[in-house]
Amino acid sequence: MGMPTTHQKVAMVTGANKGIGRGAAEQLAGLGMTVLVGARDPGRGEEAAAALRAAGGDAHAVTLDVTDPATIREAARQVEEGFGHLDVLINNAGISGSGQVSPADAHDQVPSSVEVDMVRAVFETNVFGVIAVTNAMLPLLRRSPAPRIVNVSSHAASLTITSDPNGLLATLLPSAAYAPSKSALNALTVQYANELRKDGILVNAAAPGFVDTDSNNHTGFLTVAQGAAVLVRLATLGADGPTAGFFSEEGPVPW
Ligand SMILES: NC(=O)c1ccc[n+]([C@@H]2O[C@H](COP(=O)([O-])OP(=O)(O)OC[C@H]3O[C@@H](n4cnc5c(N)ncnc54)[C@H](OP(=O)(O)O)[C@@H]3O)[C@@H](O)[C@H]2O)c1
Repeated sequence: MGMPTTHQKVAMVTGANKGIGRGAAEQLAGLGMTVLVGARDPGRGEEAAAALRAAGGDAHAVTLDVTDPATIREAARQVEEGFGHLDVLINNAGISGSGQVSPADAHDQVPSSVEVDMVRAVFETNVFGVIAVTNAMLPLLRRSPAPRIVNVSSHAASLTITSDPNGLLATLLPSAAYAPSKSALNALTVQYANELRKDGILVNAAAPGFVDTDSNNHTGFLTVAQGAAVLVRLATLGADGPTAGFFSEEGPVPW
């Protein structure tokens, strides 16, 4: 009698060297998955992967700049060679565009005075990077019995919330870069979900909430672990789970 074959789940998290992505990587490792720590800086990626291993996880750093096609190709090749498949892709890498400034204070994104190049740079990472990484990883995801893709969005993506002058985010400065990039990411999430539904690949967008990270100069009030929880939930959905959805830890977020 042969050994029973078990499928070791492999998860790739982009931008996993710090912040919410690192929190998600920790939780996935804690669930027993092999975690690939995507990081554009090899040193920062290795540091995070080593910390996960020290905590008992199976983690490996993978150099991946989502705006650099050569690193994306090489990352996909490494996953193929080392593991042969991918079960989970969390497209977490993202930039606010305004440095470590709270979104409430991003004066350089106000629509009437924004530099178009800044909008371009934000879309390059938050939108085009997601397409490039997803398409590079899809052949590997197709070899999983239960592939899951999670796109890390934001409540700021919600046109329902942001068009309400008295809404939850009414105190944020209007933004031509970050918020529209996440609305575009939500639209992409639905389009990918529609294409991949017949293949059993579940694709959803996650709103982590306002999380204490470098990206908002630590003005967020949720911990990284709290923010990462919804990413992990969507990364581990059962076969009957949703696709083409937008969720926070509290439940569905309105488009
Ligand atoms: N914090 C919040 O309140 C909040 C709210 C809503 C949504 N989000 C979203 O959550 C995600 C994670 O944000 P965070 O708050 O955890 O921010 P963070 O601490 O600044 O982490 C961002 C991560 O993305 C990486 N990254 C940036 N550009 C990249 C690129 N071109 N290629 C690869 N990696 C890249 C960063 O790498 P480096 O270390 O090399 O810079 C870092 O690992 C983002 O998509 C963000 O928009 C955050």
